[in-house]
Parts: sequence; C-alpha cells; structure tokens
Amino acid sequence: MTAVIETHGLTKRYRGGRLAVDRLDLTVPEGSVFGFLGPNGSGKTTTIRMLMGLIEPTAGTARVLGGTIPGAERSVLPRVGALIEGPALYGYLSGRDNLTRYDRADPTADPRTRRTRVAAALDRVGLTPAADRAAKTYSLGMKQRLGLAAALLQPRGLLVLDEPTNGLDPQGMREIRALVRELAADGTTVFLSSHLLDEIEQVCTHTAVMARGRLLVQGPVAELAAGTRGRLTVVTPDPGDAARLLTELGVAGVSVGDDGRVTAEPPGADTDLADLNAALVRGGVRVRGFGVEKASLEDAFVALTGEGFDVAG
Ligand SMILES: Nc1ncnc2c1ncn2[C@@H]1O[C@H](COP(=O)(O)OP(=O)(O)O)[C@@H](O)[C@H]1O
Ligand SMILES: [Mg+2]
Repeated sequence: MTAVIETHGLTKRYRGGRLAVDRLDLTVPEGSVFGFLGPNGSGKTTTIRMLMGLIEPTAGTARVLGGTIPGAERSVLPRVGALIEGPALYGYLSGRDNLTRYDRADPTADPRTRRTRVAAALDRVGLTPAADRAAKTYSLGMKQRLGLAAALLQPRGLLVLDEPTNGLDPQGMREIRALVRELAADGTTVFLSSHLLDEIEQVCTHTAVMARGRLLVQGPVAELAAGTRGRLTVVTPDPGDAARLLTELGVAGVSVGDDGRVTAEPPGADTDLADLNAALVRGGVRVRGFGVEKASLEDAFVALTGEGFDVAG
C-alpha cells in the first residue's frame, strides 16, 4: 500500500493553548476517499493546516505525496488541490474570471491553454451555465463548487477538503458528495474532513476518528462498522411493554429511543431471535418490526468512546 499522507506523532499546541492535535499517527492510502471525522474542536483543521504547511507542528513529522512537510512544500503543494475554510473569491467577478485569476497565479500554468482549462474545471463542477454571473450571486453550494473547480485546474494527486459541505443545504450537500464520488472514481485520492458521521458513511472508503485532538481509530469504514455488533431493534406501538418484557427475558442494554423504537444488545447464540419475538407477542406487544440491524459507524463510535458522537461538538 502506498500512503499519500503519513504522519507520526504529529502534535500541535497553540501558544498558550491546550493540545489541539496530540501525537497523531495517520495513514491515508492512495486511491481512498478518506473521511477525517470528528466533532467541532477535535483538531481536524489544525491537522490539515499542518499537512498543507500553513502552520508548523509542535512535534512529529508529516509526509504528503512522498515529501516531508514542512520542507518540501514547493514540490508537494502543486500536486495537491486544497479547499480549506471556504474559497477566497471576488464577489464582483464572474465564476469564470475568478478561476482565470487562480490559474494566472499559478506559475506552472500555460497561458495558451488557460481558457480551455478554466472551461473544463467549470464543467467538471457543473457551473458552466452560471459561469458568467458575478460570484456574489452564487449560492453557498455554488461558491463551494467554484472553490473545488479552482482545486481542479491542474491534475492533482490529492484533494484535501476541509468540511466541504459545512453550511450547505441538503441539495448543496448532495451536489458536493456526488462530485467527491466522481473525483474518487477517476482515481484521485480525496482527504475530506467532516463532523457528520452519515456523510463519512455515504462517501468514504476509509476513516479516521478524532476526539479532543486524539485519534480514536482509523481504517476502512466497512471494517470499523463490522467490528461493532449491531443492535436488536423492535418497532412497536407498545415500546414500554416491549422494553419491560425484553429486560425480563434477560436481554441486556434495553432502551427506548426518541423515535419509539426499542433497541438492545443482540442476545447470544443460545437465544433464538424467533423465540424472543414470539415471547413479545405472547406478552401482548404488537410487533411491527423485529431484527438485528447492521452496526453503523455511529455504533462503532459509541462503542469506542462510550458517548454519543456530538458530545464535544
Ligand atoms: N489559531 C488558534 N489559536 C489557538 N487555538 C486554536 C486555534 N485554532 C484552533 N484552536 C483550538 O484548537 C482546537 C482544535 O481546533 P480545530 O483544529 O479548528 O478543530 P476542528 O477543525 O476539528 O473543529 C480547538 O480547541 C480550538 O479552539
Ligand atoms: Mg475545522
């Protein structure tokens, strides 16, 4: 496996502050869509800023596309497309003119092919119809897509997107997620941060989970969820009775969710789920749905931390 990003003991303490990133060992495989997941304040942006050479680590090392950061910025950064904390745009310029400015600022970009390059980038993010409107008339989602277009002006070995869907409405979020999937399908490694678990589950192949500056776990999304047991779930109009009966039947961890669903730890191999279901029905519980649901990334997170995902958020 080739690692596109690799850090060892990467640490950042801001002046006078506590540890924002604490001895981070991160490995981002080539070709992955890597979700850097954590509640607000968990150290995601700080890590990304260190990886992009924008701030110096207090300790530890980072390699990006084979080059050491800090140090190899000049050879590494041209091969990285980055979108950190929203793109810097001129509102009075059109989307096309904004991109032209970005392209002109790149000393390696051939001016003779600039027009074609800008048009292709606009097309890639679906902004061709709005290309000649002033950027200030764009929705937040369109601005974010324009920022992505800037990152896509050159072929990149790596895209780094810091909370690319933050602040977007559901439609804008869907557009960005679809775009990330397309880029990944082209073979680009995408490293994106998010505080949204379901977003990571929807678009990422791999994830690293951060809490309070520390890495909790990293690996393929499917493996993390599979390593956690799912929940026994009963859908019923009689949640109180169902919860009481399940507890009486020796089922552990019974709780009634806000949505009225009753969930519990799945019973061991010596208990037949069909018998459990039958016992509920015999006890007068009207059962609409019954089964063990697949573990989600959220279940994995709760299992790891013993707390809900957004506690520190
Ligand atoms: N420039 C800064 N100076 C001091 N503390 C900072 C600065 N930037 C971030 N922090 C602190 O570092 C921690 C991690 O922040 P950040 O990396 O922005 O987290 P995230 O991107 O996951 O929300 C937080 O406690 C935050 O308050
Ligand atoms: Mg952040």
